[in-house]
Amino acid sequence: LDEGYQKTYKNVDELLPTLLRSKGWWLDQLLQYQGFWLSTYGIRGSMLIDDHFNPRPTDIIVATSPKCGTTWLRALVFSIINRNSFDFSDHPLRKANPRDLVHFLEAHIRGDGSTASIDGLPSPRLLSTHLPYSLFPECMTDDTSACRFVYICRDPKDVLVSKWHFANKLRPKGVPPLSLEEAFDLFCKGVSHYGPFWDHVLGYWKASLESPKKVLCLKYEDVKKEPLGCVRKVANFLGVPFTPEEENKEIVEEIVKLCSFENMSNQDVNKSDTRSQEKPISNSDFFRKGEVGDWVNHLSPQMSEILDQITEQKFQGTGFSF
Ligand code: A3P
Repeated sequence: LDEGYQKTYKNVDELLPTLLRSKGWWLDQLLQYQGFWLSTYGIRGSMLIDDHFNPRPTDIIVATSPKCGTTWLRALVFSIINRNSFDFSDHPLRKANPRDLVHFLEAHIRGDGSTASIDGLPSPRLLSTHLPYSLFPECMTDDTSACRFVYICRDPKDVLVSKWHFANKLRPKGVPPLSLEEAFDLFCKGVSHYGPFWDHVLGYWKASLESPKKVLCLKYEDVKKEPLGCVRKVANFLGVPFTPEEENKEIVEEIVKLCSFENMSNQDVNKSDTRSQEKPISNSDFFRKGEVGDWVNHLSPQMSEILDQITEQKFQGTGFSF
């Protein structure tokens, strides 16, 4: 580690014991940092980005709150910007999970040689993050910097259900499952990774209103309903609109098909158990149902009402709704 990184790591070590802690969703703890509940991993990532990330005007950052469609959006943006580099029948997405094709910023900024250096990546760099918008340094969020964020969010009721299933997959064997009631309480209190969920959405939503060229906000439900339109929108936003020739060749349709839940979840690489010490989460863990509205099968009417109330309160007057 060079001296600069050593200093950041030391600052992280000094800060962590001073932060408010809460029980997490698996065996982790979440810590309150600048208004958000993050794991130590997220906090360290944020501080390393502050001190060491060198943004480029061409950077594209896929931003999500966990369980809102990270896997899907990574795949879509990857295939949109690389559409001239690969054949759809022999595409990298048929052999690798999107998390292995899109560098996760918080992990790749470590500076300890354990991950590929993002400084060495060719432009345009496609990166991914779960961090809230307000945690990014000004050099990335002010209007003079040209790096762009593509964000996706999702109905919090479906996010909660997805996250609850995911948490129970991740809990070590022998640890009792997290009950839905517990998960619900944590989520409503805002205690979820990179939460409060609503504040995460609002940060990106407001930024997209103030800087529409810099931040594009999508909703999982809209992408499900109108995938072709959404793919075109992302391509336009990124400055690589589909040409009439590409439209004739139905490239947009190819991308939508390639990235669909049905196709992706059926690739061998996403079906097999890929768990390892380095990567305790298997590729298959990122695919469950991929539907809108599965919450009705899990949440009580009272739970859904409470969540809707919180959502309404939080988004009142912001112009945003699900
Ligand atoms: P469900 O648990 O509701 O099925 P993330 O990628 O942010 O971790 O989100 C995971 C959620 O997205 C899961 O939701 C998963 O099934 C769904 N998902 C994964 N790939 C998808 C795809 N290609 N299209 C639509 N949804 C997808």
